[in-house]
Amino acid sequence: MTEAPPIDAIPDETAYAEAVQLAADAAAAYYGDGTSPLDDDAYDRLVRGIAAYEKANPEQVLEDSPTGRVAGVVGDVPHTVPMLSLDNVFGPEELAAWAASLERRLGHPVTAWSVEPKLDGLAIAARYRDGRLVQLVTRGDGSAGEDVSHAIGTIAGLPGRLASPVTVELRGEVMMTTSQFEEACAKRQAHDGTTFANPRSAAAGTLRAQDRPYVCELTFFGYGALPLPDDTSDFATWLRESPHSQVMEWVAGQGVWTTAGTPVAGVVATTVEQVRQRIEEIAAARPDLPFGIDGIVVKADDAADQALAGFSSRAPRWAIAYKLPATQKITKLLAVEWNTGRTGVIAPRAVLEPVELDGSVVTYATLHNPADIGRRGLMVGDSVVVYKAGDVIPRVESPVVHLRTGDEQPIVFPEVCPVCGDEIDTSQERWRCVRGRNCRAIASIRYAVGRDQLDVEGLADNRVRQLLDAALIADFGDLFFLTREQLLGLERMGEVSTDNLLSAIGRARTRPLSRVFCALGVRGTGRSMSRRIARHFGTMEAIRAADAEAFQRVDGIGPEKAPVIVAELAELSGLIDKLVRAGVNMAEPGVVPVAVDEGGTIAPAPGAAELGADGQGADGQGADGPGALPLTGMTVVVTGAMSGRLAALSRNEMNELVERAGGRASSSVSAKTSLVVAGDNAGSKRAKAESLGVRVVSPEEFAEMVARLL
Ligand code: IVH
Repeated sequence: MTEAPPIDAIPDETAYAEAVQLAADAAAAYYGDGTSPLDDDAYDRLVRGIAAYEKANPEQVLEDSPTGRVAGVVGDVPHTVPMLSLDNVFGPEELAAWAASLERRLGHPVTAWSVEPKLDGLAIAARYRDGRLVQLVTRGDGSAGEDVSHAIGTIAGLPGRLASPVTVELRGEVMMTTSQFEEACAKRQAHDGTTFANPRSAAAGTLRAQDRPYVCELTFFGYGALPLPDDTSDFATWLRESPHSQVMEWVAGQGVWTTAGTPVAGVVATTVEQVRQRIEEIAAARPDLPFGIDGIVVKADDAADQALAGFSSRAPRWAIAYKLPATQKITKLLAVEWNTGRTGVIAPRAVLEPVELDGSVVTYATLHNPADIGRRGLMVGDSVVVYKAGDVIPRVESPVVHLRTGDEQPIVFPEVCPVCGDEIDTSQERWRCVRGRNCRAIASIRYAVGRDQLDVEGLADNRVRQLLDAALIADFGDLFFLTREQLLGLERMGEVSTDNLLSAIGRARTRPLSRVFCALGVRGTGRSMSRRIARHFGTMEAIRAADAEAFQRVDGIGPEKAPVIVAELAELSGLIDKLVRAGVNMAEPGVVPVAVDEGGTIAPAPGAAELGADGQGADGQGADGPGALPLTGMTVVVTGAMSGRLAALSRNEMNELVERAGGRASSSVSAKTSLVVAGDNAGSKRAKAESLGVRVVSPEEFAEMVARLL
């Protein structure tokens, strides 16, 4: 749960006037083109500071204060009923206090609460006459908005015709889903080489844009429906008198999108404790949602309760926005560091002025590659928008160009590899050291022999370096050809350690294909992707024969990753040949290999048609019956210390077990998780699973479920 953020105390009347002006400018920019010199958090802090000052100095309250009016761009279409804002609470205590004050005002407990996500887009009124969409109006200043009817037909979820021929005004949020945002950025990129700062400002700009040569799709989610003020029909009366939740069911039934059907659907709760639980669930689901939310809206569901509570000048008294911690903030880009990874890729990393984002302090963020830096026009010293939610790696989204001071400096790109000083291959978007994997030979060999890959004991960094320096090896494939004599000739290598190392290397020849493949360190494939690839294809031969199209049949490999894997495998072919010559196992136990035809496309081997190489039927659901695997179709997260029969298994071995049992191993709990195996000290993942209602089992119970695979 969030704590109330600190507020910036305002000392005097001049500072108060400046604060009001800053808030007004920020709000104008925010509702105008979606840019703002303040991030959401800073704006909230500012407004809270202003409110605190006004409480102490009520005689000084300015007309323009953001506390007393609805911010926005004024348009010329009057709203039939004002489009108001929402007051905020920050944390469970403030929520409880607000609920108690509402109940005092009503003189009775709230009949029922409706709990919905607060969608992070722009409010819009969609007017339907006799079931046809006739006009779209923005919120504007709340009493009048802009006509944006030109956007009709470009907004998913807002049909041109309702199921019933009624006259009604739907209200809801227009936004861009993550995929719409990516598509919009790609279109704009292709058009003028720039991108949008974030989905919200992309939606704001797109909604207003009339003369763009490209069209970007938007999404609408409804959160309310009103009759025209003078409509006295039975339908209008029904709309006015029905609980909010029933009105929303009706809206969804008209073919309009609402959050029903998403993991954060609106629910009705009867106690504040239930409201709090649902808030936890929505907060937990947030990182995995395909659209942005910035809080949770809690409403009195009953129409009579709403009517009794009424409105203040800017917000209803029967609803509140429970703010979630920001996932986007503006901070300073202090420097850019360059590093060469295990595969030779030279990656830039942003060093930031520390900011708190979604509960943790962020100091570094990824900057994808040099071309991306150029496209975004980033400079050192820029104010930048940084994004992080849940487990995602923090990333720099864009510079805030209008906050530039003139002191910004261009980002210096390296001229040589920052690790070995050799040349850089800049022919691709991702820059690479010309030595490729050999640039970081120690790191890549150590990765290959690591516990979760080939698991060769006795090969610490210094031993690997010794072997490289003596030119006995150049890559990990050479390990398999080392002789006793060669090893005995090395310093600090006695008979016992030599024999131990040789037998450890011998055992490494028998590892399953998934681990051998993982040892290669193919870019874009870690442990779990390597297992999926090995289970899908069955043999190294089939993997090597696969083209980009065939790779895309593996769960989690898309059109971007597939060609990278194909290119990487071509680059690694010498090493793979060496491993084959060394007699390293090249098959995944228990998997029927797919047959390879001449053209490099893959067809299931004869007899493997029913149960494909990935152990699943063609529909991905797996075969039923006695042969079906116990975890087919399930996403499983393992957390905490294993015990009982599973005590000796590493986390990677547990994940391997999950996948052998037909499941998909994941490291983070979300609404999509089917099962959490929680050992001792499981901590936050267990708590998150419980709050989401995901089934949690002990290691012992899990061992029972997969007993026949142990
Ligand atoms: S109800 C009378 N429900 O939040 C006010 N608003 O800060 C009715 N918003 O302008 C608003 N999701 O644009 C409501 N589920 C939701 C919402 C929601 C997002 C936006 C809306 C409103 C703003 C207020």
